[in-house]
Amino acid sequence: MHAELQQPRLIDIPVVPNEMGDLFFVEGGEIAPFEVRRVYWVCGIPAHAKRGRHAHKKNQELIIALHGAFTVEVQDQQQNRSRFRLDSPRQGLFVDSLYWRELVDYDEGSIGLVLASSHYDEEEYLRDFSAFLNYRPPGSPEAHSNSNSGEAGS
Ligand code: TYD
Repeated sequence: MHAELQQPRLIDIPVVPNEMGDLFFVEGGEIAPFEVRRVYWVCGIPAHAKRGRHAHKKNQELIIALHGAFTVEVQDQQQNRSRFRLDSPRQGLFVDSLYWRELVDYDEGSIGLVLASSHYDEEEYLRDFSAFLNYRPPGSPEAHSNSNSGEAGS
């Protein structure tokens, strides 16, 4: 069964500061509201970049601007939108599955770090916006008419 979706939200990341630098940490299931199964980061991003433009069927993410700044625009299947400017490693943006996200307005040289709840699986992406709006998770009341619903529920 698909758990109820959580709204995108900023999460404060604990820091251990001292005169030799600031150490940040995230523990899966605690600071990140999921167990972390994958980590990826994106560097060498030009200012005109537009990344993301997809949603996930299951994967949840915590997105952090390790360096620089960028904006994450999120949208749910009812097309409710919100946007977050990430400009500090002190906070991460939690984005649940079934939220369309676009990453825009990069400061050149920014580095984005993403903690993810599942291993990479292209089949689990929704890269077409209409398909995202129409997608219903297996087991949901409206899933019967969905051609993408052939996978096992979680
Ligand atoms: P994508 O998730 O579309 O990147 P972004 O959301 O930052 O624009 O992934 C870009 C490419 O990298 C795509 O071909 C899939 C591949 N990829 C992996 O192989 N493993 C991964 O963990 C991720 C996130 C992407």
